[in-house]
Amino acid sequence: MSGAHDRHRPRYHLLPPTGWMNDPNGVVEWQGRYHVFYQHNPVAPRWAPPHWGHAVSDDLVHWQHLPVALTPEMSPADADGCWSGCFVDDGGTPTILYTGVRAGEQATCLATGSADLVHWRKDPTNPVSRVPGTLAAHALEAYRDPYAWREDDGWYALVGTSLGGVGQALLYRSPDLRRWEYLHPFVPAHADGVCDDTGQIWECPNFFALDGEHVLLVSRWQGTALTYPNALVGRYAERRFHPGSRQRLDWGYRCFYAPLSLLDDRGRRLVWGWLQEQRHVERANGHWAGAASLPRTLTLEDGVLRQRFVPELETLRGAGVRLDDAPVHGVQPLDLGGPALELRLTLSRGSAAMAGVRLRHAPGEHTDVVVAWEAGRLMVDTRRAKGPHGTDYAVDTLPLVRGGAALERVSLHVYLDHSVLELIVDERHALTTRVYPSGPPLDEVALVANGGTATVETLEAWQLGAIW
Ligand code: FRU
Repeated sequence: MSGAHDRHRPRYHLLPPTGWMNDPNGVVEWQGRYHVFYQHNPVAPRWAPPHWGHAVSDDLVHWQHLPVALTPEMSPADADGCWSGCFVDDGGTPTILYTGVRAGEQATCLATGSADLVHWRKDPTNPVSRVPGTLAAHALEAYRDPYAWREDDGWYALVGTSLGGVGQALLYRSPDLRRWEYLHPFVPAHADGVCDDTGQIWECPNFFALDGEHVLLVSRWQGTALTYPNALVGRYAERRFHPGSRQRLDWGYRCFYAPLSLLDDRGRRLVWGWLQEQRHVERANGHWAGAASLPRTLTLEDGVLRQRFVPELETLRGAGVRLDDAPVHGVQPLDLGGPALELRLTLSRGSAAMAGVRLRHAPGEHTDVVVAWEAGRLMVDTRRAKGPHGTDYAVDTLPLVRGGAALERVSLHVYLDHSVLELIVDERHALTTRVYPSGPPLDEVALVANGGTATVETLEAWQLGAIW
């Protein structure tokens, strides 16, 4: 059973046919088609020793499921799961590096694929790299999620870990992807203040050049839980990464995690994250859990990391409405609704204290996406939209202004897909959350402003189609 009738199941997001998904893995554009692999339990909506699920798309919007690519096996290295990893093109041979887990040990394993990426063969020499002897004394809490790239003098790879109680990535070099030499911790000093939000473990490191600088994405594990990904922007020199600034990649609470990116044939840096559920799936009698985010492009403009949803998603648009220069005061319903929507709007402050959008999912159950002008923040309040099985993380706050500048104008790009709410503010800050209303569907949208009148400079909204 897939849970296809579950009203909370997204209709235009990438997710497995049934069962559980977590991290996107090995994302690649290969022979003109986009492939996303992902951490997957095909039989139940809960984490279990992961398989690699696999889906392919011609347009970044419509996805087709392909057979599971990697399955945990009793054979040497991965009986307890094929954990996260990456895809590389080894001189024409599709190759996956992943974390094989067995008897508590995490190690890097390799598999090679058929030209269509459907069939995968694990390397007989697995695992190809293990915790380096020089670090044995550290009793590493994690050694996983290899991310590899090619340079003139060979292959390099990062492995996510924790050193001295804080997140770190270990750098390796190899001539052939099979023999790996450990070099050193990739980020030399956390003490410089830039990398002040390390968390305890770095999961899923992802390193790439972007618009003249370098970016390291790391997912920050803290205590006993995943938290959120950070993007570190900085300088790559002498095989070390020196972060110059940090930006949180998504402000949702434990909802967008383990992002992984690819460089597509058009030169775009595209990123997907894992959208974790925020309800107790089994109590809710679900058959599925988890989805991939919509693909976003990443760019650096004047040192600022920008995020945008890919324009390909515009093909999902159906009926729409448009407003220009509309004053908003109180609660004003829009002439458009539905459980699958896209909204683009620019708000200006006027005399209002707060202004934004109310998604009225069901009677008495709504989500407010509002700008608190004075505080310089966006607030996404899902307290009345989590349903009986929701967890309690319910008001997300995204700081838009630091250092006292007045906030006068905000642009919002919002995607609602049943239980998934993804938004990007000012083509920069992202926030993803989940909603699970339980009452009879209302699916209305209203503009809201209180404490005065705000102006909607422009608004466009569309109902969106399904991809499955
Ligand atoms: C991140 C993560 C990875 C690991 C995978 C296991 O969500 O914990 O570090 O490889 O999930 O499914």
